[in-house]
Amino acid sequence: MDSNSPPATSLNNFRLLYLITQMVGITLIILVSSWVGVHLNGLAWTSRPSVQFNWHPLLMTMGMIFLYGNSILVYRGFRYARKKPLKITHALIHAMAFIFTVIALVAAFDSHNLARPPIPNMYTLHSWVGMSAVIIFSLQYVFGFASYLFPGVRDQLRATYMPVHVFFGVLGFVLAIAASLLGLLEKAIFSIKDYRELSAQAVLVNMIGLLLIVYGGLVVFLVTEPMYKRKPLPEDVMLLTHSSSSQ
Ligand code: HEM
Ligand code: HEM
Repeated sequence: MDSNSPPATSLNNFRLLYLITQMVGITLIILVSSWVGVHLNGLAWTSRPSVQFNWHPLLMTMGMIFLYGNSILVYRGFRYARKKPLKITHALIHAMAFIFTVIALVAAFDSHNLARPPIPNMYTLHSWVGMSAVIIFSLQYVFGFASYLFPGVRDQLRATYMPVHVFFGVLGFVLAIAASLLGLLEKAIFSIKDYRELSAQAVLVNMIGLLLIVYGGLVVFLVTEPMYKRKPLPEDVMLLTHSSSSQ
């Protein structure tokens, strides 16, 4: 072990926390699926707009929460893989998250526009916070792609932009967690008749909210803790001396 390597125990903690994060993320998807399946009448597309809405929380949890979290963790979770494949994986998982998000938004807008009478769009705090997260995420993708996958960008520019990339990447994720909490509360108030009786559905929704906070907290910790940052591999350093593709 060279003098720059972190102590082995710190990476063991990383592995344990990473495993817990994945388990919480998968549990979230299972709980949202059971909420939708058991309490909200399942899934449909435009034939039943009120049920079509149910794609919205499900796909947002899979895209803007689970995939987003996993994509920003990819450099740390697979620290011994080469940089180039990691960059491509990072970009591909974000692309999948984006596709899920677009379908989730179509489901929410359709459920408003196709309702009789139609429901107005974009009037809630949830929709404003959610849209801010989506806009930050989309801009982040365009700028990340242009800076780190596009050949020919100067190393100095890449390095100067990196802290901004990380900041907005984490901000978009935190806003997605906040939007989901607001959306959950809103849907609970709209659709659980006996919310104040703490029915089974109410407990389920509250549990989903708490797990969102646990998942968000773990991802943000793992992606911002300096001890867990991926160190360049000797191959990356060698590539750096031959080309400009290390950032
Ligand atoms: C990051 C995740 C999320 C984002 C970015 C997001 C974004 C949005 C947006 C932009 C709308 C407005 C659609 C329109 O005006 O027609 C909306 C509607 C809605 N969303 Fe979400 N959402 C997210 C997660 C959730 C979750 C987890 C729930 C839980 C059920 C939820 C519940 C709702 C509800 C009830 C509406 C309709 C009422 C309204 O416009 O606020 N959302 N969402
Ligand atoms: C919505 C899109 C994106 C978000 C939210 C995002 C977010 C992040 C975050 C939070 C980090 C810090 C990771 C860490 O410290 O371990 C990061 C690192 C990085 N991202 Fe992105 N990113 C996005 C798109 C892209 C794209 C398209 C590329 C192009 C390949 C890219 C390239 C990089 C690179 C090279 C790093 C540095 C990793 C390191 O040095 O350890 N990002 N990104």
